[in-house]
This record gives sequence, C-alpha cells and structure tokens, in this order.
Amino acid sequence: MANPNFLIVAFPSQSHINPALQLAGRLLRTGASITFTTTMSGHRRMSRIQASDRLTFATYSDGDEEGPRLVNSSMESHMNETARRCSEAMRQLIEASRDKGQNFKCIFYTAVAPWVADVARCYDIPSVVLWIQPATLFEIYYYHSNGYGDNITNESNGSSSPTQLPGLPPLTGRDVPSFLSSSNPLHFLYTLIEKQIQVLKEDGRSRVLVNTFDALESEQLNAIDELELVAVGPLLPTSEGKDSSGTSLGGDHFQASRDYIEWLDTKPVASVIYVSFGSVSTLSKPQKEEMARGLLSTGRPFLWVIREGGHGLQEESEDRLSCEEELRKQGMIVPWCSQVEVLSHPSVGCFVTHCGWNSTLESLMCGVPMVAFPLWADQLTNAMLIQDVWRVGVRVNGNEQGVVEGGELERCLELVMGGGERSEGMRGNAKRLKDSARKAAGEGGSADKNLKALLEELVSS
Ligand code: UDX
Repeated sequence: MANPNFLIVAFPSQSHINPALQLAGRLLRTGASITFTTTMSGHRRMSRIQASDRLTFATYSDGDEEGPRLVNSSMESHMNETARRCSEAMRQLIEASRDKGQNFKCIFYTAVAPWVADVARCYDIPSVVLWIQPATLFEIYYYHSNGYGDNITNESNGSSSPTQLPGLPPLTGRDVPSFLSSSNPLHFLYTLIEKQIQVLKEDGRSRVLVNTFDALESEQLNAIDELELVAVGPLLPTSEGKDSSGTSLGGDHFQASRDYIEWLDTKPVASVIYVSFGSVSTLSKPQKEEMARGLLSTGRPFLWVIREGGHGLQEESEDRLSCEEELRKQGMIVPWCSQVEVLSHPSVGCFVTHCGWNSTLESLMCGVPMVAFPLWADQLTNAMLIQDVWRVGVRVNGNEQGVVEGGELERCLELVMGGGERSEGMRGNAKRLKDSARKAAGEGGSADKNLKALLEELVSS
C-alpha cells in the first residue's frame, strides 16, 4: 500500500506550531506525506522550514495577519472567524486532494479546535487531536465538564475543600486553570475546551495524542476510561534549534543576534539564571521592576528575555526599567532567544518560567530546575506539578496585589541554586526526568512506539 497522506491543522501560535511541526517530523520519518496548514501569520513563525516532496504547506488568512490576539475583547469573535475560515480552507484542501486521488488518511489537529473534527466527519475522514498541554490538564478539564464542575474551582474564597482526582495531589484553587471561573474574561476558552471534549466523546473511544511522556504522567494518562490518552512526547526541537528534518524553528525572531550564547560560554557551570515568559504573556511594569530587584539581589548572572510588542497579557508600554544600567552589568537582556539551546547550555542553572507547557517540557528535557512563576491558564497547574509532584522547582508566592516581590524571587532562587539538601534533591529529580524524557523521545522510545501503534491501526482501517 502507498504511504499515507496526512493533513495537520495547527492553531497559529508558537506553542501549537512547535509541537505540531515535531509531530510532522515524526510522521515524515515513517514515510508519510504531510500537508501542514495554519494561518498566514502562523506560517511566518516557521518561515525557515523548507517544504519538500512529502511536506507541503498550505496557508489561509484568519483576517488578522499580525497573529492571534489572546487578550482583547474581540478574541471570542476572532476565534469564531478563525473557525469559519479554517473550516473553509480544510474543505478546499480535502477536495483538491480527492481530485488528485490522494485522500487524507487522517487529520491531526492541535486542540482546541473542535470545528476540525466537524469538517473531518463530513468527509468521513478520521481525526486525531494533539493536546499541547499536560495530560493532567486534560484530566482536570474532563472531570470538570463531567460532573465535577462544582468541586474543581479556582474561586479564591476558600469555601470549597481541595479536590482529589486520580494520580494528583489534592487540588486547591491556586492549582487549577484560571479561566474555569465563569467570571474570568477568558472563560469562553473553557467553553471551547468543553466542546472539544464533547466532540471527542461523540466519536466513540477517541484517542488523544498528548505532548507528554509515559514516565512523567503515567497515572494521568490512564485516569479517563472513555477516552484513550496516548503519550507521543516530548515533541520538542533539538538543542540546535533544528527539527528532525534539519530545518529551524523560531519564526520572526530568528534573525536576532546570538551574542547571548557567547556570553553564556564565559560563565561557570550552572551559574546563570534564565528568565522567560513564553511567546504570549508579558509582565506589568511593577512586576518587571520587582523581577529586576530580585535578580540583582542574588548577585548571580542572568539571561532575561523581554519580548517587544506582541499581543501580550498584562501588557504595558515598554518603559525603561529604573535599574537598567545595573542589570546590564550583571546580566543580559534579549528580545528573544533560541530557548532550547539556552536551556541545553551547561552554564544555565535555573529557569524562571511562566510554566507554559513547552517551556516546562524543554526545561525537563534539559534537566534544568525551575522557579515556577505562573501567570494564568494551565500555568497554575503546571507550577503545582513542578513543585509538588515532580519536585524539580519552587513556586513563587505573590503579595496581596498579586505582585511577586524581589525578596520572594530571591528566596526561591536561593532554594533552587543555593546548594543544600532541597536544592540537591531538585537537581537530582531534574536529572532523572531528563534521562526519562530523552529515552521517551529517542529512536524506539515510547513516543515512537505509541505513534507507530496508532499509525498501524489508521493505515489498516
Ligand atoms: C501558551 C500558554 O501561554 C501556555 O500556558 C500553554 O501551556 C501553551 O500555550 P506560551 O506562553 O507561548 O504558550 O508558552 P510555552 O508553551 O512555554 O511556549 C513558548 C515557546 O516559545 C517555547 O517552545 C519556547 O522555547 C519558545 N521561546 C520562547 C523561544 O524559543 N524563545 C524565547 O525567547 C521565548
């Protein structure tokens, strides 16, 4: 039988595109042909990826060529428009492939995009979702939308007792995604997740591919009877910033200077603090000032990514920091970097992270302990996993205004980097998980095996 033809549909943000491209790389290695579709703005983020005879890119416009807007009030209507335009683009691609006698064997898509499954059904093509957050999050959303809604709450009034779900420590309000609360302005994102889970349930015993690995979340992967969660991760670029087919990831920012690697080369092993808040969120001005204070007071070198512009959460104008000169003496500030390369550098000793799932996985894969500084959504749960379940980091506490003060950051950094029993314990746990992550991602590891089993079933059906 000819090698299968797959369609991959990726939501146009860095955190969806990166794992979707890695999935494409794995599918290509099995001999499959891939059509990869995302929006024009999404495609720009991967401008250095080369098409080939088995990898074709197809873009569509979602009406916002600047990229997805995650915070402004029109996001809900923008998502609806994206769904409409994405569905239309998919129909055209499916019909064109049929005309050439090359039907898609399956459509893979990054969650959350339940409309993709609707289109796939119309053409009788199987669809498989790629969940780009941990299995733990899927489990929380699943139980929340299946009768546990009143128990799992992030209201901070303390009225409800902690919730116990399979394989997890008791969840308090600060451990569950912020937009579960109906008063949260981004609550509609949760309604989209509910719809996604509903669609999966309607499809019968659906499989959900999860960007995680068996050794990391074994209980969570088995916590739901009616859906099958399959670990196919970690789906991450290698330390050279190249994917499996030899192309670079990183998009718009890739031309940025790489002086920071030379700077890292001059620092002692495990001495540098790396600080980054992913591709979506930015810090408020007062929070940045406190961050600066905390970093300076440690006396340690640091590499801090402060992104410019974007559609960030908590975005404020980029005023100069009051202590910018001191900061530049002790550390380095860059607008973007090749994160996996930085985390793989021997000089990096700790990652101050917002706990986005890609950043968390990348840190685990590189064995770097973390200071967990979550801002919203899944990051709150990921911070709990980092501190309480995997014990590879320490979570910061905010003050009454929700600002993490410089002293608090310094306290957490010393716990992680200052030596002593707890610090050594975290380093040891990080090393163990690094080994498991690399084994899972390596050739013949659990990611390959799990994906192969799925493909065999798809191709034989
Ligand atoms: C979003 C949500 O914010 C997050 O909570 C969710 O888990 C995934 O979707 P984002 O904030 O972008 O993601 O964070 P993350 O998942 O960590 O992804 C950021 C990606 O950008 C990582 O792959 C990281 O390596 C990359 N990055 C970030 C760089 O390559 N360089 C940088 O300077 C900053």
